[in-house]
Amino acid sequence: MRIDGKHMRTIWLNEDGWTVSIINQQKLPHVFEIVVLRGLNDAARAIKDMAVRGAPLIGATAAFGLALALRDDPSDAGLKEAYARLHATRPTAINLKWALDEIYRAVHNLVASDRADAAYSRSKEIVEADVDISRRLGEHGASLIRGIAEVNGGKPVNILTHCNAGWLATIDWGTATAPIYLARDEGVPIHVWVDETRPRNQGAALTAYELGHEGIPHTVIVDNAGGHLMQQGQVDLCLVGTDRTAANGDVCNKIGTYLKALAAFDNDVPFYVALPHTTIDWALDRGADIPIEERNAREVIHVSGLTAEGQVQEVQVSAAGSEAANPAFDVTPARLVTSLVTDRGLCAASREGLLSLFPEKKA
Ligand code: MRU
Repeated sequence: MRIDGKHMRTIWLNEDGWTVSIINQQKLPHVFEIVVLRGLNDAARAIKDMAVRGAPLIGATAAFGLALALRDDPSDAGLKEAYARLHATRPTAINLKWALDEIYRAVHNLVASDRADAAYSRSKEIVEADVDISRRLGEHGASLIRGIAEVNGGKPVNILTHCNAGWLATIDWGTATAPIYLARDEGVPIHVWVDETRPRNQGAALTAYELGHEGIPHTVIVDNAGGHLMQQGQVDLCLVGTDRTAANGDVCNKIGTYLKALAAFDNDVPFYVALPHTTIDWALDRGADIPIEERNAREVIHVSGLTAEGQVQEVQVSAAGSEAANPAFDVTPARLVTSLVTDRGLCAASREGLLSLFPEKKA
């Protein structure tokens, strides 16, 4: 997608053939900075500190992280250590483990001297495949938006989204935003309600930033406004991403998603979840078993923003001495999800629904 009219991806291999560049998402939207990853430590830190974030992008960064690590130490011990280090960075998004397993499978039977090259090749394939997956998912999701536009009498389709499930969370296109971009390209008028997504403000800082650069009309709202807007008939559909979907269709996504799904259910607003198949955890029978990341309480107590002097500054919000808790994700039960939007098409949020699109998983 575009930044200042220039097409960009979120991660890429540099011309030297081994270093990897990322957009530092900690600094967006106020500062655009590219960071170069040169080894395992750089990749692990980028994921843990959320310079990169979003399930598919975390997976791609971990894959390249393993390739970088194998350049330095391709031994069996080096491979296992790097796998464990990257796996421990963030617990909830399943794409992290999926991508690490893909690299592990591609290299563990090779002689040590061939491992790094094989890891780079598989990482590049993962990145290319993710772009294709997002696009296909977007085509399926765009049909839903088109359907609403057809009965909307030319009025913009109002879509509410939570967190950032845009191209900044993937490699390109995004998950929840891919249908939006493709429907827009077909001429469908769209307006997006962007949940700010406290505490890290991925909606206000990232989703609004990328929608702005793509010229999509949008309005940032506080996380608590969505229910009210649904009661007022100002939301045609909710469209969110997911960090892990259990085999029964329960969906784990950024904290606050569940409350939006409840409000949508109460107001007969369709609630769609866009997911690449790499986000499905076939080994988990229900969402309640998904590990929920507990992040530093400091993220709740402080906010950062741009001062009138143009400096990015962090300030404290709550009274000194107050405790804070920071669970980063929640689980929306399948019964609240109208449909899952995958790269193979739409399905019911249920085991049967998912298996109808992925019959090879029946075994
Ligand atoms: O903590 P984050 O910013 O990595 O969380 C990201 C989300 O919750 C996204 O909505 C998600 O990864 C969905 S799909 C890209």
